[in-house]
Amino acid sequence: MLIRSKSSNDLTENHVTDESVYKDRRQLLKKMGFVGAGALLAQSQSQAFSLFGDDDDEKAFEQRALKHTKSTIYTTDEKLTPEFKVTSHNNFYEFGTGKSDPSSNAQQFKVDPWTIKIEGLVEQPVELGYDDLFSAFDLEERIYRLRCVEAWSMVIPWIGFPLSKLLEKAKPLSSAKYVAFDTLYDPKQMPGQRSRFVGGGVQYPYVEGLTVEEAMNPLALMSVGLYGKTLPPQNGAPIRLVVPWKYGFKSIKSVVRIRLVSSEPPTTWKRLASNEYGFYANVNPAVSHPRWSQARERRITTGGLLDRNRIPTLPFNGYADQVAHLYRSLDLRKFY
Ligand code: MTE
Repeated sequence: MLIRSKSSNDLTENHVTDESVYKDRRQLLKKMGFVGAGALLAQSQSQAFSLFGDDDDEKAFEQRALKHTKSTIYTTDEKLTPEFKVTSHNNFYEFGTGKSDPSSNAQQFKVDPWTIKIEGLVEQPVELGYDDLFSAFDLEERIYRLRCVEAWSMVIPWIGFPLSKLLEKAKPLSSAKYVAFDTLYDPKQMPGQRSRFVGGGVQYPYVEGLTVEEAMNPLALMSVGLYGKTLPPQNGAPIRLVVPWKYGFKSIKSVVRIRLVSSEPPTTWKRLASNEYGFYANVNPAVSHPRWSQARERRITTGGLLDRNRIPTLPFNGYADQVAHLYRSLDLRKFY
């Protein structure tokens, strides 16, 4: 098993995330009995490594180039986050809770064959296999901002297709009000699903949800690639959701099932701490997280040690023109 050795490119989490913020999030898990400060965390990471064994001969995951067009609408002039940062500073608790755990632990993740099902309150259930992910829809590159609830952000060139196109194939019934998403459940491949310590105490599979109106918004993207290539496992291969106006935890990775349902589905972080992580989770600088401000964010652009480029956070992560109308009935000074 290949475990990437630390290079100068591999910054530790506290170089790129506000120390107070990541400690605070750990604090929650600690309070809940899942993480026992630094020593235990270090132990959980080495547990993850030893669970995989240490066969150095196994190859790292291979990405391949994807044919795509570039969107002229869904783009930005902002500086892109360097690819090595996008693929080495990740949250994917199925592969460990440290920022570099997913890139270290997910390299043997098998994504082909893959099946994703669209079912529930639909006229025509749909099932796509691995090759369909890259051929059933026109693939487009879109450059989106990603704002994590932990107050760091990136600018990422995703490749994918609108979620609405996928849902339209299944013809949702009028009784469908919400869309529920599941990540793969495969504890053999995902060490975090085998251990509450490695997996941050999350109840697996990781689940997420949107309202049907949100899911049909043209911004909601099913991504199968980034930086011109297929997704690496740590970013949610082979297919993940990207909802750029919401905190990053809504953008669920490695999706195997999408269900149209009539009532609000459970979502992973709300299930863990409903006073801290809401169902809507729209990026909102006016509403602080109970333990830190959401007014500003650290944009990870240079990836360097001095990456302290703090910028104001925008309502709906800068996508208000496209999505604010969905929330006319909500008081945006409140937590949802
Ligand atoms: N999806 C799954 N299945 N498991 C996770 O732990 N983490 C979420 C989201 N999707 C997560 C997930 C969080 S908190 C964030 S910020 C984004 O993925 C991070 O995406 P990235 O690693 O591609 O930047």
